[in-house]
Order: sequence, then C-alpha cells, then structure tokens
Amino acid sequence: MTARLIPVDPASPDPGAIREATHVLAAGGLVAFPTETVYGLGADALNARAVERIFEAKGRPTDNPIIVHLADEAALAAIVTDVPPSARTLIARCWPGPLTLVLPASPVVPVVTRGGLPTVAVRMPAHPVALALIRAAGCPVAAPSANRSGRPSPTTARHVQADLGERIDVILDAGPTPLGVESTVLDLTGATPTVLRPGGLTVETLQAIVGEVAVATLQMQAALARSPGTQYRHYAPRARVVLVNALPERAGADLDAAVRRLWDQGLRVGVMVTAESADRVPPGAVVRVMGPRGDPRVIAANLFAQLRELDDAGLDAIVVEAIPEEGLGRAVMDRLRRAAGAG
Ligand code: TXA
Ligand code: MG
Repeated sequence: MTARLIPVDPASPDPGAIREATHVLAAGGLVAFPTETVYGLGADALNARAVERIFEAKGRPTDNPIIVHLADEAALAAIVTDVPPSARTLIARCWPGPLTLVLPASPVVPVVTRGGLPTVAVRMPAHPVALALIRAAGCPVAAPSANRSGRPSPTTARHVQADLGERIDVILDAGPTPLGVESTVLDLTGATPTVLRPGGLTVETLQAIVGEVAVATLQMQAALARSPGTQYRHYAPRARVVLVNALPERAGADLDAAVRRLWDQGLRVGVMVTAESADRVPPGAVVRVMGPRGDPRVIAANLFAQLRELDDAGLDAIVVEAIPEEGLGRAVMDRLRRAAGAG
C-alpha cells in the first residue's frame, strides 16, 4: 500500500478531500492529518481494530496510550466519566489548542486506545484541517504523532511519507505545522495537576490559569509510568545527539570543543545552534540555525525538521546547543534530552 497524498488548503480545506478521508476512517483505515503541533496518524478512536492498525504502522509498544482528538467540548461527555472544574476552566481558556488532558476514561473507549490504562488523554486541536476532519468523521479520532515509533515527530507531510508512506491509507498535506512540538499532556486525575509532557502550551500559562502545577521530571515520568510513552527513547535521529551548554557566555566555546572532540574520533558532525552562536561553529561542520536564543517559538518550529535533515545527511553525531528552559524552551529541551538518550 502507498498512501494517497491529498493536498489541502490549511485555512479552508476542500470538503471533497475531507470527505475522502472520512470514508477511510469509517472503513477502519488510517489518515495522517495536520494539527497545530505536528502531523497525527488518525483512526476511529472507538474502533479497536482500527486503533490496533495505528500501533502496527508505527511499531508502537501496545502499552503506550493514544490521545483522542475531539472537535468540540460536548464530545467529551461520551469519552470520560468525570470532568473536574479545573478541566472546565482549562478547556474554556485553552481549547482548541495544544493542551491534552488526562481524565478518567468511559468504558466505551477501547482498552487498546488507552494502552490498558483506566484514563484517556483528550484534546481539541487548533487546526482547521484537523477540526474539519474530526467533525466530518462524526467520531473521536485517536491520533499519535505520525512518525515511526522513536523517530522525531513529523512537521511536514514529507516526514510522514518518509516514515509511514507504505503503511497508511491517506496523508492530508496542508504544509508545515505551525508549532512544531507536540501538545502539553496534563494529568488531572490526581490532587495536583501534573504536566506529564511539556509541550505547546507553556507551564507558565497553566500556572496562571489553575495555580499550582507539578511538572514530572524525565525520571519521575519513567518511574510513574503514567505517561508510558515517556519510558522509551524518543525523538531520536539515527545519529548520536550531543547537548551542550545553555549559558550564552559559554555556549560558543563549548560548541567548538564538542565538535572538535567528535572530529578527533573520526566522526561526521552536524550542528544545531542559536543565531547568536552560528559564527562559533568550526568551519567544516554541517550547520543549521535553529533561531534566535530568545525566541523558542522559532526554535520549536524548526526543531524536528532540522533533526531529520541532519540525520538524512548521513552524519554520525549532531551537536545541539541547549536553550533556556522557559516558556516553549521547556518543551524544546525535553525533546532534546530524550533525543540525546536521557529519557
Ligand atoms: O500534539 C500532540 O499531542 C500530537 C498531535 C497529533 O495531537 N500527538 C502526540 O501523540 O504527540 P503521541 O502519541 O505521539 O504522544 C502522546 C503522549 C504519549 O507520551 C502518551 O504516553 C501520553 O501522551 N498519553 C496518552 N494517553 C495517556 C494517558 N491516558 N495517561 C497518560 N499519558 C497518556
Ligand atoms: Mg509521538
């Protein structure tokens, strides 16, 4: 099977294209579609066999649950058994948007969708194509990121094609996804709202809305196994990823030293740096400028595409400059640590 690539306008998708995709979903097939974060690989969330196909296509461990995507808040009632007041407040302020809420699952959600957990993760994406698709499908849409398990998430249809082109039915191509990192996963089933995965909606924004918010560290996430996807090495290109110093005054010298050390081992080296450090990379390395140090939005939007580009260039190692862990920088650093094997 080779996926049918259907171009769609990101702002006002052609209803014919959407209808074609919904026929695939209704038949238990797989449709990759853009969200505001990354491309997702969608199936009817209530069709256990269809969701099994997602796991097969991605090579995803079966204990890793999948986010269920909705087109409106009303659809929640059928999927979860309780919506606490904090969830109502967050939904009113943040949906549609890059915030996924973990809530107690209704028994109608197949066990396979939940990865065997009693909870389900839900979100309403802020992308016209995603919303049109879910609405037209008339069912909740289960969708992990549309990459092979362990690879960087796809921010273009071409990334999806490279990973899954032979394993899925349709790819809706609406160009690059605006945010570039996945949604924030927030567990609302405990006493304190807990961020299981930092993402497109910042911790600072969550705190401003609900007050105290706990942030699970990589170690805590692995130990808790409440966000099972966090147990596995993630976002990993084939090349080794080496993270260097986030301190602006040290970054240049540390980058230079890291690249030369790898060269001394006879390795081919690529580098991802902030604009401020671009002139500190020794000539001869393959360089990608992520964006200005103070603008993690630009860096997030470039992150996965640049990891893939450098990986496709057949390098042995990718040296990446760390950035400050504030705002979206927290999500960027989380993905980089995992890519470097710290997860
Ligand atoms: O932005 C996104 O979230 C994208 C787009 C397509 O919506 N989706 C995405 O899905 O990143 P995925 O499967 O690649 O990552 C979902 C994360 C995983 O770490 C998974 O373990 C966690 O959410 N998760 C899903 N259901 C959960 C649950 N019931 N409890 C705890 N964690 C859950
Ligand atoms: Mg993923």
